[in-house]
Order: sequence, then C-alpha cells, then structure tokens
Amino acid sequence: FGREIIYEESLTSTQTIAHQLAQEGALDGTLVICEEQTEGRGRLMREWKSQKGKGIWMSIIMRPDVAPYQAPQFTLVAAVALTYAIFDVTGVSPAIKWPNDLLINGMKCTGILTEMQADPDRVNAIIMGIGINVNHQQEDFGEEIASIATSLRISLGKEIDRAALVAKILYYMEAFSKQYVAEGFEKIKTLWEKNSCTIGNRIKATTLRETFIGKAVGITKDGVLQLLLDDGTIKEIISADIELEK
Ligand code: BTN
Repeated sequence: FGREIIYEESLTSTQTIAHQLAQEGALDGTLVICEEQTEGRGRLMREWKSQKGKGIWMSIIMRPDVAPYQAPQFTLVAAVALTYAIFDVTGVSPAIKWPNDLLINGMKCTGILTEMQADPDRVNAIIMGIGINVNHQQEDFGEEIASIATSLRISLGKEIDRAALVAKILYYMEAFSKQYVAEGFEKIKTLWEKNSCTIGNRIKATTLRETFIGKAVGITKDGVLQLLLDDGTIKEIISADIELEK
C-alpha cells in the first residue's frame, strides 16, 4: 500500500477525494492524505475536526476480492492494524472500542470510517478512512469533545513523527487485509477481541430506536456485537453508540 500517494495541504475530505479517484480507476493501496480537512466527516454524518498539521487524516483505496457483506469486517481489520502501528511507534497499545474507535486512557484518539463502492455481488473498492489525533495539545480540542478526546502526544508527553506512523499503518493495513482475504476472519477476530475494551464489560448500546444494557460477550464473524441481556438472551447489535455501564 502507498505506492501511489496523493498528498495535499488542504482537502474537503480525503474520503470524498478517494471515492472520486476510486471511480476513476485508482489502484489498490492508493493513499489520499492531507494536513487539513475542511469537511472531515465521521460515522453517522458527524463532523470530524481535522486541524492543520496536528493529526493524520487519510483514506486508503483498497480493492480486495470480497463480497459486499464482508466490507464491515475491514473496520475490524483496520482497528487491529492501527493498534499494531501505534504500538510500534509509541510503545502504547490503544484499546479498541466497538465498532470503530481506538481509545487511550478511556478517551478517543482514533476513528475509522469504512465505506464501499460495490455491485450487488462484488466490492469494487473499499474506502478506508482513518483519523488519528496525533500532536494535539489538550486546548486544541473544542469544548464539546475535550472530555472525550485525546491525542498520542497528550498521552505520551512528546511529539510523534507522523510520517513514521503513516508508513507503519500502510504496512500493517496491507499485511492484515491480505491475511484476512487469504485465511478468513478467525485470526483477526481473536486479535480484535484481545485488544478490545468492549468485550467482557457491561455496556449500554444506543441504537437509532432503542437502548440495550448487557454484557458484551463477543463479536460475530460479521463484526456484529453480541450482548448478553439480563434476561439471558443474546441481542445482536449491528450499529450503535456504546458506553461502559458502571
Ligand atoms: C469516526 O470516528 O466517526 C470516524 C472518523 C473518521 C475520520 C477520518 S479522517 C480521514 C477520513 N476523511 C474523512 O472525512 N473522515 C475520515
């Protein structure tokens, strides 16, 4: 990955540009990366703050030979790849919070946004969006997210070399996604669960319609979260915001 690189000072969103390039035939592993995004976006169309020079704002165009139902598993592949990359560069191992956040000291430092272009039975491209708060100081986070967001620099007390981290991310993303396509999901699932702060804990999951409280007991091979409810039944959660319950 990263043999083709599009690097710009400022973009609306690396995700939007990567979608356009994918439609124009960009190669597997093409990287779109910038210093600042003016319209960075997160899951559920939320805004993603992407200040100039502070973080890593990147999208990778991937062309794995998989079916559309497998695309969500790449969020889990990316989470594992990112924990390895961040650990290699900083010595700190972030915890994975289902479905797509990495936390340090319980606060979010990284978000993953997986989107795809597909025919009914085949994926044409996965656009893997990665946002990492790297060199932010505490005051760089607006009031709204100050209590839930952190950066690698805040937790380590020193600046991080962003280029070294991007190189590691490309290496592990390529290695783990190839492993997943060749060998299936089992190994990724094991690594994901091992590094997760969700599994084994009592959590509250808020979906668009309802709230469920229970113990997170695992993920399925599709990346669906399994919640053991107090009545002993298992509820499968496809998409939700989750919080730890005390
Ligand atoms: C989330 O936590 O909701 C996902 C955040 C994903 C942010 C990244 S930054 C690079 C790429 N471009 C975007 O507009 N979003 C993703």
